[in-house]
Amino acid sequence: MPLSAKHDAEAYKVYSDKRIWEHRPQARHESVKETHQLIGRTQASWAAKDLGPWGVYMRDQPSEFIGVGGIELVDGRVWDLKYRFRPDKWGNGFATEVSEAALKAAKRMDPDTPITARITTNHPASARVLEKVGLRPVWEGRRIGTGDDPSEPDVRIYADRDLPEEILEFLKARP
Ligand SMILES: CC(C)(COP(=O)(O)OP(=O)(O)OC[C@H]1O[C@@H](n2cnc3c(N)ncnc32)[C@H](O)[C@@H]1OP(=O)(O)O)[C@@H](O)C(=O)NCCC(=O)NCCS
Repeated sequence: MPLSAKHDAEAYKVYSDKRIWEHRPQARHESVKETHQLIGRTQASWAAKDLGPWGVYMRDQPSEFIGVGGIELVDGRVWDLKYRFRPDKWGNGFATEVSEAALKAAKRMDPDTPITARITTNHPASARVLEKVGLRPVWEGRRIGTGDDPSEPDVRIYADRDLPEEILEFLKARP
């Protein structure tokens, strides 16, 4: 179902879990307000395209929230694929399943907008998910503003097509 403020508390449990942020511990949420704000930012995508990230539940246990996944329109210019699931649910193909559903929806409704994703380069499981759903790496380097901070891993941008230079520059400039 569409991710919304009613997911704040359950999503915060995921976004505040240290295991979720093993590859970038400094990004862990320390208050539900951060999660609320993150979810709030995704609402523009729902408003613009009737598509955005989902709160994800088990098909056979519909009250069991397992995390956040899907695709978000960023700045009206690109789709950004994302997934963040409860650690006890990893390894079941859920990130791949949700990503495939999101790609299908975005391609159907808005085939001209590039589909992209960004991961830290120290995260092979996340890279594997993107490879499995057919995205390919288009750029790798420093996250803007991180300079040579050794606690900040490099990032890699993926896309479903060659990106126009201005779109790539826009993605490289996203914090
Ligand atoms: C990354 C994450 C979304 C993966 O979710 P998942 O539901 O376990 O993913 P899937 O089961 O669909 O696929 C994972 C793939 O990575 C592979 N994998 C897992 N750990 C791996 C590792 N250390 N090295 C290489 N591949 C790995 C799995 O074998 C699987 O590939 P396969 O189907 O070819 O065997 C999940 O671990 C997560 O939510 N992590 C925390 C949040 C996060 O890091 N999100 C990404 C932000 S960029």
